Amino acid sequence: SPRDNGVRARSLSTCLLASGVRNFSMAGSPGYATIFDFSIQNLRFAAPGIRKPEAVVLPTSRRGLQRAVLCARSASLAIRVRSGGHSYEGQSYTVSGGVLDGKAPFVVIDLMNLNKVRVHAASATAWAESGATLGEVYHAVAHSSPSNRSSLALTAASCSTIGLGGHISGGGFGPVSRKFMLAADNVLDALLVDAVGRVLDRRAMGEDVFWAIRGGGGGSWGVVYAWKLRLVPVPDTVTVFTPRREGSVDAMAGLVYRWQFEDRDLRNVAFTGLVLGPKEMAMSVLNERFPELGLAEAEVSEMSWVESAARLAGLSSVDELHQQAAILRYLSDGPPAGYVTMDPYGGAMARLSATATPFPHRAGNLYALQYGVTWDSDAGEASVSARIQWLRSLYAYMTPHVSSNPRAAYVNYIDIDLMGFDESLGPVRLASSVSHARATWGAAYFTVENFDRLVRAKTRIDPANVFYNAQSIPLH
Ligand code: FDA
Repeated sequence: SPRDNGVRARSLSTCLLASGVRNFSMAGSPGYATIFDFSIQNLRFAAPGIRKPEAVVLPTSRRGLQRAVLCARSASLAIRVRSGGHSYEGQSYTVSGGVLDGKAPFVVIDLMNLNKVRVHAASATAWAESGATLGEVYHAVAHSSPSNRSSLALTAASCSTIGLGGHISGGGFGPVSRKFMLAADNVLDALLVDAVGRVLDRRAMGEDVFWAIRGGGGGSWGVVYAWKLRLVPVPDTVTVFTPRREGSVDAMAGLVYRWQFEDRDLRNVAFTGLVLGPKEMAMSVLNERFPELGLAEAEVSEMSWVESAARLAGLSSVDELHQQAAILRYLSDGPPAGYVTMDPYGGAMARLSATATPFPHRAGNLYALQYGVTWDSDAGEASVSARIQWLRSLYAYMTPHVSSNPRAAYVNYIDIDLMGFDESLGPVRLASSVSHARATWGAAYFTVENFDRLVRAKTRIDPANVFYNAQSIPLH
């Protein structure tokens, strides 16, 4: 009841203050909405009807983070951990989906102030706190070299506002993944705050849990406070190409062609690529390997790796990589209504076996396909539901053309629809059972073998299921 929630909220606030944690905002207080909304990427979950947290806590130290976890527990509030807020299903700041759909009073522990990055150029490693955005990490890595023409890089996504915490937890694919694998494949150590407030490094958490946190999805294990990352070598000059083709099917791969052939609403194709080397090398490789693209010299640009990180993130300067203003710009951009993104897999990613990490999409996988649709904030309900319906029909249409038994999915592109939908029960009543989770999203994200190992790791590290969300790993 609201009264109970008030008691819990007061208990949280008292506990935080007594523990020396002062940086938090209670629901209804001035500034709460600004802080809560700050990194919400999917504005569907910012709507008034969606349950909001009783408080947002923003720890500024590791100790503050430990205290925040313990206080949330002692106040009987569910915990949502947020790093960059990019969860497609809002799992870092809502209790939507799952058995407690919209019902559990909860607190958001937001790591945005835990964003320090310490680069050790000599060993090509960095320790980075989970609340750092990818842009902040790229910026710090590039500035670790005095010339600012970095020869070290981090392999992770091109979108600079993604948080390191959620990204690595689910794998972390980006422009140099075919050369240097996923972000999670380059994790050397990590510090995990568990449900009883301990800080565990790789040795203390054990190899099963260390395996699980590198691709088993965020929000299941505890809070990863920081990651030790292997940095990768890149040449001083790289070449970016972003040609856009309209109305022609020549340069499209078969599946895109088929889709256009069906006369659905997809008539533009944009390719984005990065070649680790100068322009001549890029032109020669691309004209030999992909002549249909008809790449012109004016469409390729030479730059340093960190400049390419800014360009691929849609920013106009390297400094914007660590400026939070970029977030606002990102949110205000008006993307097209419907699109499909094809992320090329294989390459170095395929060198690991499907069980080496929870991310199993290794040898034999050509692409990840991502289906998207957007609308303006003033779109009416009918228009919104027509677009979502369109998206579901596109997904269904693609069934015969993609992986099957199971149809694979990538946990960082979390999709509650994978749980199935029962009109009377809602999407998720069944989801608490291990067998239902395994048969639906578990096998799709991880394969059955990896999912079962994740269940064992979950049962070991969080036996009270303190860290859960609609698709967190269930207990044995
Ligand atoms: P967020 O804070 O929402 O967290 C996501 C999940 O991880 C939640 O369940 C949360 O509780 C948990 N979590 C967060 N921090 C944690 C921590 N420190 N410890 C434990 N659990 C934690 N992916 C990709 O691989 N390649 C790409 O190119 C892109 N591109 C892209 C673009 C855009 C616009 C969006 C919105 C998303 C992507 N993604 C992506 C997907 C992205 O990698 C995925 O959403 C990540 O989980 C986001 O991490 P955040 O920390 O930002 O999210």
